[in-house]
Amino acid sequence: MRILVTGAAGFMGSHLVDALVAAGHEVHGVDDLSGGYMRNVNPKSHFAKLDLRERAATAEYVGRVRPEVVFHLAADATEGRSQFTPVQCTERNYLAYLNTLVPAIRTGALKKMVLTSSMSVYGAQKPPFSEEMPRLPEDVYGISKAAMERSTEILSEVHGFEYAIIRPHNVYGPQQNLADPYRNVIGIFINRLLNGKPFFIYGDGEQKRAFSYIDDFTPYIVKAGLNDSANGEIFNIGPVEETSINRLGQVVLEQFFKTRDWDKKFAPKHLPPRPKEVKEAFCTVGKAERMLGYKTTVHLEEGVGRMIEWARAIGPQKPVYLDDLEIVNGQVPSTWKEKLI
Ligand SMILES: NC(=O)c1ccc[n+]([C@@H]2O[C@H](COP(=O)([O-])OP(=O)(O)OC[C@H]3O[C@@H](n4cnc5c(N)ncnc54)[C@H](O)[C@@H]3O)[C@@H](O)[C@H]2O)c1
Repeated sequence: MRILVTGAAGFMGSHLVDALVAAGHEVHGVDDLSGGYMRNVNPKSHFAKLDLRERAATAEYVGRVRPEVVFHLAADATEGRSQFTPVQCTERNYLAYLNTLVPAIRTGALKKMVLTSSMSVYGAQKPPFSEEMPRLPEDVYGISKAAMERSTEILSEVHGFEYAIIRPHNVYGPQQNLADPYRNVIGIFINRLLNGKPFFIYGDGEQKRAFSYIDDFTPYIVKAGLNDSANGEIFNIGPVEETSINRLGQVVLEQFFKTRDWDKKFAPKHLPPRPKEVKEAFCTVGKAERMLGYKTTVHLEEGVGRMIEWARAIGPQKPVYLDDLEIVNGQVPSTWKEKLI
């Protein structure tokens, strides 16, 4: 298959490209390197640096590649920050997506769009979230993802291409951006420790999430993308095991220092909660188990241990802050305003 992966230099996109190349596909990847790294790009793929917000350049590129399948992963996935950068969020998510999808439809070659969405579309409904629940996003990022999902359904019906929508959990592992102070809680915790400092926890730390190691994600997005049985379906992908941020912090500390008796100067520091952060977010995965053969194989301790090993090899990263939030006021978390991370 001739496949286009957007966000190919990013964390999940680069693992996906590796899997598709290994399976013998012709893989084209694009990324503007705003959050991804050239070191993640598979040399056996065809890579182009491209900002998908640029409509004409994107149309020209997609028209030339004529992908049969598109896996769309490019995003500004800073969910917590999206209340402070709503325009950038919409441009890098909803607009960049339509800029990719529209010319792909126009080529006539597109068979299937595989959209990487997010659990944020469920908003503050009572977890576990299941795929048939309505989209009720509670933040600007979730609104973009919900708009992308619904637009896919509508355009598919009108223009006759297939699609699959994936809603991952918090995915973590090697190749994740450790320098992003706005997202990837495990990466932020590890990077703080690599820098010899304790990490911060927003609120009481009893908010619950489910974390997926990357190896328990990639095979299933591939299957959802390439198996016809997944056409027109939405899949949650991730473990049912939920973890509080406090427990996650303990796991990271124990795996980092390889002891339960770590130096108390690294005890996590608590800060006020972030606006709009939902208390619990985890979901059912029965549909992915039944239709894609999903299984959790890497549990939190092991996955965090593997990520720490990789992070030690690339070394401590200097956090990269956005120069200009679109809205700066008293709601901005102090970790960002004072560049504490
Ligand atoms: N990691 C998670 O836990 C998680 C959870 C749910 C959903 N997702 C979704 O999965 C996808 C991949 O996430 P990730 O964690 O790998 O993030 P990532 O930031 O590592 O990858 C996204 C990539 O998109 C690129 N990008 C951003 N704007 C672009 C633009 N305008 N043009 C071209 N490239 C652009 C970035 O440079 C980056 O490399 C995203 O769509 C994200 O919303 C991720």
